[in-house]
Amino acid sequence: MKHRRRRTAGNPRKLLLALVALFLVSALSASASDVPPPATEAGAEEFAFQTEVSRVMNIIINSLYKTKEIFLRELISNASDAVDKVRFLGITDKAVLQDNAYLNITIEADPASRWLTIQDSGIGMTKAELKKNLGTIAKSGTADFISAVEKNKDELGLIGQFGVGFYSAFLVADRVQVISKHPSDPVQHVWESTDASKFTLAEDPSGNTLGRGTRIRLHLKDDATEFLDQTKLRELVKKYSEFVQFPIYLRTTKTVEVEAEEPETPAADAADAAEKKDEEAKEDKPVDDEMVVEDAPDAAKADAAGDKKAKTVSEEVVDWEQVNVNKPIWLRSAADVPTEDYNAFFKAYFNDADDPAAHIHFKGEGGSDFKSLLFIPRRPPNNMFQADPQSFIRNIKLFVRRVFITDELIDFLPRYLSFIKGVIDSDDFPLNVSRETVQQTRLLKVIKNKVVSKTLQMFKTLARNATSYEPLYKAYASNLKAGILEDTRNAKKLTQLLRFHSTGAPVADDGRTYMTSLDDYVERMRKGQQGIYFLTGNDLDQMRKSPYLEALTTRGYEVLLMDESLDEYVTQSVTEFDGVKLINVGKGKLTFGDEDDAAKSAEKELADEFQPLTTWLTEQFKDTVDKTLVSNRLTTTPCALIAAEGGWTGRMQEIMEAQKAALANSPGAFMYEHFARQKKTLEINPNHPVMRALLERVEDDAADNDDTRDLARSLLAWIKGGYPIKDLDGIARRIETAVRLGLKVDLDAKAKVDVKEAPVVEAPAKKKAEAKADDEDEEAAHDEL
Ligand SMILES: *[C@@H]1O[C@H](CO)[C@@H](O)[C@H](O)[C@H]1NC(C)=O
Ligand SMILES: *[C@@H]1O[C@H](CO)[C@@H](O)[C@H](O)[C@H]1NC(C)=O
Ligand SMILES: *[C@@H]1O[C@H](CO)[C@@H](O)[C@H](O)[C@H]1NC(C)=O
Ligand SMILES: *[C@@H]1O[C@H](CO)[C@@H](O)[C@H](O)[C@H]1NC(C)=O
Repeated sequence: MKHRRRRTAGNPRKLLLALVALFLVSALSASASDVPPPATEAGAEEFAFQTEVSRVMNIIINSLYKTKEIFLRELISNASDAVDKVRFLGITDKAVLQDNAYLNITIEADPASRWLTIQDSGIGMTKAELKKNLGTIAKSGTADFISAVEKNKDELGLIGQFGVGFYSAFLVADRVQVISKHPSDPVQHVWESTDASKFTLAEDPSGNTLGRGTRIRLHLKDDATEFLDQTKLRELVKKYSEFVQFPIYLRTTKTVEVEAEEPETPAADAADAAEKKDEEAKEDKPVDDEMVVEDAPDAAKADAAGDKKAKTVSEEVVDWEQVNVNKPIWLRSAADVPTEDYNAFFKAYFNDADDPAAHIHFKGEGGSDFKSLLFIPRRPPNNMFQADPQSFIRNIKLFVRRVFITDELIDFLPRYLSFIKGVIDSDDFPLNVSRETVQQTRLLKVIKNKVVSKTLQMFKTLARNATSYEPLYKAYASNLKAGILEDTRNAKKLTQLLRFHSTGAPVADDGRTYMTSLDDYVERMRKGQQGIYFLTGNDLDQMRKSPYLEALTTRGYEVLLMDESLDEYVTQSVTEFDGVKLINVGKGKLTFGDEDDAAKSAEKELADEFQPLTTWLTEQFKDTVDKTLVSNRLTTTPCALIAAEGGWTGRMQEIMEAQKAALANSPGAFMYEHFARQKKTLEINPNHPVMRALLERVEDDAADNDDTRDLARSLLAWIKGGYPIKDLDGIARRIETAVRLGLKVDLDAKAKVDVKEAPVVEAPAKKKAEAKADDEDEEAAHDEL
């Protein structure tokens, strides 16, 4: 107390104000009891800021930058650095830790006096360091900062990366004090500034109250008083610094009702407490050395006086609340962290309602030291592929040595993995790394590759359990498929993660069929089987009945049923798997691998036999069919349309049809026209009675008969192959013909129509004449043109 009086002596008004302030301070807070020493303290030296500092400060003081809250992040980050430093030094030199055994950061607000205090037990600064660190800045840093902010005022938020983060204090404060004690300087000093031109430096008249460390005191401006609110402060610490590895304590007060044993005592207690506190102060022990629980004397007195019989009184309880969690979960050893903790962290940190589907916690070594914790959410975001890519950038949080740097890494993960959420904490980046420059570093690329491969590893592990993998696979199938198209480097690994419905997939106990992997398919392949057969389509039930499967399933060959639109693209990119060809059963000529010479010559014979029919059919359907072949893939269906090897299947044509409008006027439109007009192969089943009967008709020279033509058209109309049907009207007519034939109704018999035409209304003669004149005018107009 002694030194406080000395400081304020000689100016009665100042003294009064100081006493009022002192009263409020001691009433409301246990430890913010150091009244700021006046700037012009005797013995204080005054210094002009270096020009660069003045310029930076002017920008900050006059800035209209809205996100002022960043000052707290900057100061905590500075504090954390300082604690980091002393902890590091303490490893080799125990003496530096002697004067203060703590390694923490404390935040304390005093709404009454508007002082906000951020204190650390870091390395502190000597007098010379205070003068240098807080009075000068590197010219290059200033120039960069000034030009960045001139270009875009939002860049002010990146102040930290220019090495001038400390000055962000002036966004919210009109008076800043830095009280610091360094182990190698016996004296604690006070640095103070209120404007961009000068600062003062003085020996702290309170003596060495810190032991070691730095206390920054901000006198908040009128428009920054929100930062005195403990709820706001807690929120900001959580937002920006939750994972700083030193405890961050926020001084909180709350009013509680406690039982009063004797109505008279609280005031006396308060007095006692105040006295005790004074004694402690005299002993030069920092007041905030311990948790202080203190009565609020005013409230207690009022209560005591008002109602002597009251059983309870209101008490102000002061507490130091640790705001950040202990050790960041990703820095703990994976073996020590139970799954529930990972899940809780995921839900809290990424605001997800569900537990994640999986997590992976790993260390990157060799070329980049980083720790990472990644999660696959149970459900992908809605409309993943339509959503703005920017909406995913917050999924990955980058820390550098526990200090949060950014979660706006654009294109850090490839788009198909943008749903991955997680944390990366690197020891290799400088803390002042900027969001922009970090993107271009080689280091980040190394990290990125590891993160991608770990993510795929996570999927691979999940895929081991078919039961639990299937729902997850369904949720992310499009992502994995898009990945195959985008990320050729990892295409093989991604292909292994795919699962397909199949005609031969194992059946689960409950009768459901599992989806199958390509690996498992290959294992089940029959002797002589030429490749992995697949069919594309959009309706599994219909696909299972597809004529394309006939000769294959009869042989016992398994066919993958690919029912997603992306499959069409994937199978154009993945043409083989493990050296086995993927064969689209709806395209080109099929071979089965079991054809012997006898089969081949039998095929040739059939082709010759059916030649009159195949030639005739090709001619009949020349708009859509370029050749007709005797089929080896059909067993029960009379005929089918087959796409050329490089052409579109029915499914592809359907997909493209749906996108036609979007393709208009783009190079894609040309492609569309090209493929949509591409002719198909008509394959006929030589073993089918209908085809044989048709062959006889054609050979009987009945080929020119309308009847035969109609029959053939009807056949083509119900051809299965998934091609969009264009000629609906024609089909209706042909079905009618088929029905007539079946019922033996004359094909020319007409329905009797007895609906009469309504009479025309006679128009008056005048109107008729006018109409005639109009017609003539119109003609004249046309002539003029
Ligand atoms: C970041 O800090 C390093 C030293 O840690 C320094 O060499 C570098 O110039 C700084 N970069 C910026 C942009 O201030
Ligand atoms: C804050 O960090 C800067 C570097 O960004 C350093 O020069 C300065 O000394 C630190 N200030 C305090 C008060 O710790
Ligand atoms: C934080 O460290 C300071 C010393 O710098 C100490 O006085 C204080 O008691 C510590 N606070 C907590 C809550 O541990
Ligand atoms: C596979 O997942 C299912 C469903 O989550 C689970 O019930 C089953 O125990 C798992 N099987 C193995 C072998 O882990």
